[in-house]
Amino acid sequence: MAAQATIREEIDRRRTFAIISHPDAGKTTLTEKFLLYGGAIQTAGSVKGKASDRHAVSDWMELEKQRGISVTSSVMQFCYEGYCINILDTPGHQDFSEDTYRTLMAADSAVMVIDAAKGIEPQTRKLFKVCAMRGIPIFTFINKLDREARDPFELLDELETEFGIGTYPMNWPISCGASFKGVYDREKECILTFDNFHGGRNRLEAIECPISDREKLEKLIGDRLAGELIEQIELVDVAGYEFDIDRVRAGKLSPVFFGSALNNFGIEPFLESFLKMTSHPLSHTDAASGQTVDPFCEKFSAFVFKIQANMNKAHRDRIAFMRICSGKFERGKEYFHVQENKNIKLSQPQQMMAQEREVIDEAYAGDIIGVFDPGIFSIGDTVCDPSMKVRFSGIPTFAPEHFAVVEQIDSMKRKQFAKGMNQIAQEGAIQMFTFPGAGMERLVVGVVGMLQFDVLKFRMDSEYGVGYRQENLPHQYIRYVKNSPKPISELNLMSQTRHVCDLKGNDLLIFVGEYEIDWAVDKNPGLELAEFGRNEAE
Ligand code: G4P
Repeated sequence: MAAQATIREEIDRRRTFAIISHPDAGKTTLTEKFLLYGGAIQTAGSVKGKASDRHAVSDWMELEKQRGISVTSSVMQFCYEGYCINILDTPGHQDFSEDTYRTLMAADSAVMVIDAAKGIEPQTRKLFKVCAMRGIPIFTFINKLDREARDPFELLDELETEFGIGTYPMNWPISCGASFKGVYDREKECILTFDNFHGGRNRLEAIECPISDREKLEKLIGDRLAGELIEQIELVDVAGYEFDIDRVRAGKLSPVFFGSALNNFGIEPFLESFLKMTSHPLSHTDAASGQTVDPFCEKFSAFVFKIQANMNKAHRDRIAFMRICSGKFERGKEYFHVQENKNIKLSQPQQMMAQEREVIDEAYAGDIIGVFDPGIFSIGDTVCDPSMKVRFSGIPTFAPEHFAVVEQIDSMKRKQFAKGMNQIAQEGAIQMFTFPGAGMERLVVGVVGMLQFDVLKFRMDSEYGVGYRQENLPHQYIRYVKNSPKPISELNLMSQTRHVCDLKGNDLLIFVGEYEIDWAVDKNPGLELAEFGRNEAE
């Protein structure tokens, strides 16, 4: 198909979504099952083994393996029934929200995985807010129905009241835990049940039975469950929201699916409905003109949403991930790097299947490509056809909430220390500040989540061979100094307030508590402070 397909057809079959969840809800398992159904992997165990050997296709860094968490986001592409699907995996650990937020900027919809026994958890809440901010469709997969679960009505109610959106159950669970029998498919008006679980290594063929065939229904799931199901379905039909695809696409109504990722139950129906309900790649806005760029426009445009160094130790490389917003990317062609005002050739363009990378000759709107970055890209940069000169908006920066003084200990490694810190800061993995007038030996590092400090230490050691001393600071707030009536050193500030500079030389103040910010403003007429970045998720 690919050889003959036109650019329009190629773009039309693209679906790009992020998968989000609180740690342990089953995101990795579900992703793995998507890949299994898409034929991208042969057996489920090939992606994620036992807890003792726990690593998923999407885990790159050693640290992730050691901790059993996904620290970095990764991208996977696979085909399913003519669609070309890009999954953006997001780190589940709550400390890694910043990277996750950026990843969500590259997705056209989100799949939110929820543990049926737990309902909404803190990380789900945060991620949901970012999706809502973007107005992208959110599909909910309520997982682990093979275990004891909360009442489905209660779960839907929680989603609606906490998130302020409507829900539309696409299917309805028939019991849970040991007596879980399957689901009722509301569109087909029949139940999907199965003979037995088989550990989820293969695809699962469900047995179908129309709900109107009471005799067969009772034979399959028993009298009591059949009676209960019919009652519940009536209630869902009467009391629930109407299905409205426009509201789904506007992110106001979330289609909800019940299933068990581990047992492959509900994967295929989910994928099928999901692909039908989502649209081709969404358009993006040019910040300069305010105009939207049509994804079907044949000219290539993309923005960088993530930079990652040393993904592969053997290569010691740096990859910039771009989301293609319009047209077709062709290897070897000259493009325009808007922020640098320069024409460039993107070298070694590749697509990822986690650790496996494949050099590609072409890619289309909706796709994510990774290109070799010799240190020229920053998060948010636009690359496009030289005749376009668009500049995409919208990668928010987040205000750090934790700070530490980081000091080099080995003066012989001064260069390595500065290089490592600079590169990691450029990737957006940390924020880096200097003390006014001081050099690079003693820096202030700001992060959104504490785990970023561990990653920094680990990476500085394993990639740059440098150790350092770290002293955590009690500060939690940061503000730009927009206007100061006098030199900052002469301002009347509380004793804990500190003055730092960013890499561009802007002055900032860091504060332990909000009262210190009020003090600074009250005691220094004419002092104007500005928020750091746009932390719209909070
Ligand atoms: P995450 O990426 O969201 O953090 O979750 P992950 O898929 O790693 O799943 C977390 C745990 O939940 C795993 O168990 C996984 O096997 C289990 N799990 C996922 N889906 C289901 C399901 O539908 N039913 C049941 N019963 N369990 C499910 P683990 O013991 O932590 O790891 P492992 O030994 O299974 O790898």
